[in-house]
Amino acid sequence: MSAPVILAIESSCDETGVAVVIGGRRIRANAVASQVALHAATGGIVPEVAARQQLRWMVPTLRAALEEAQVDWGDLDAVAVTYGPGLIGSLLVGVNMAKALAVAHDLPLVGVNHIEGHIYANWLTDAPAAEPLSGEPPFPLLCLVVSGGHTQLVLMHDHGSYLLLGQTVDDAAGEAFDKVGRLLGLPYPGGPAISAAASGARAATRFPRARTTGLYDFSFSGLKTAVLREVAGYRERDEPIPVDGLAAAFEEAVVDALVTKTAAAAAEHGVAAVAIGGGVAANSALRAALHERLGATPLLIPRPEWCTDNGAMIGAAAAFRYAAGDRADPSLEAIPNLALSWSTA
Ligand code: KG4
Ligand code: ZN
Repeated sequence: MSAPVILAIESSCDETGVAVVIGGRRIRANAVASQVALHAATGGIVPEVAARQQLRWMVPTLRAALEEAQVDWGDLDAVAVTYGPGLIGSLLVGVNMAKALAVAHDLPLVGVNHIEGHIYANWLTDAPAAEPLSGEPPFPLLCLVVSGGHTQLVLMHDHGSYLLLGQTVDDAAGEAFDKVGRLLGLPYPGGPAISAAASGARAATRFPRARTTGLYDFSFSGLKTAVLREVAGYRERDEPIPVDGLAAAFEEAVVDALVTKTAAAAAEHGVAAVAIGGGVAANSALRAALHERLGATPLLIPRPEWCTDNGAMIGAAAAFRYAAGDRADPSLEAIPNLALSWSTA
């Protein structure tokens, strides 16, 4: 069978993504319309606004992707879409569009879990069309998924097989970045802003590392409270807040927690490689620390624009589902709290 050409739609949160992906690996187009500037004005995402923007940008983004990919409807093998987890109003826009396109062009529909998309960003390549593909990520593969809504350590023994080793017991890593960014008076989203403030700065303090009951679980809400207390202390003493130094100390604590547990899980399970995904995986301190601490275990790192929400990662995950004969029913619904289906061994 030749490599399937998949039109993939992502609209789970505040990015509208439409991509054309061949064989789950080569990107023909990956158009993304971001609402970041709009949400910066409110210091965070207002779901109602995000949904309206999805509606506003879906068709222009689809047009841009088709134009860039230079494909006709007859060249496509399937339409794929994120159907959860995410914001219901945002998800509905993409799911509805995908269903309409699949019906109108008589194409199969493939439903993709957003987290699975973040993981499969590791299958994407930017090798030019004429060049042979590099090897695929090897199994067993340990995946650290760190986004605005999720922080999970997932062990994969095969395509579509996910063993949950641990996850956050409170805030997601990206959520902590965003909340602490706001505390420090930095612009939304906090992740890139904290990363920029922290780069080159010396940590102003050492924040305590959280203890969790589960070996590979994470906790970030205590850290957020520690930053809040520290900031309050400076205010009480009427001293200037060392924003860069606190950003550096916070980033160091988050990166330390993520890297320590990922390295321990990689060693315990003897994995062939470690992969990362989700918006926080774009963080350069995290990337550097993982490289250093994983030693001989290969580390797969998607390009930063494939870590934040985009359609190409959905096309990558859809390809293996398509090959496995996985087809969504035309009545596919958006599921805001959709979980990956966890394996037990
Ligand atoms: O995966 P994503 O685009 O959307 C979700 O599925 O949530 O992740 C967004 C999150 C935000 O919390 C944002 O602050 C964070 O990723 N993020 C970063 C960086 N770039 C984005 N966090 C740390 N460092 C970055 N460079
Ligand atoms: Zn995401």
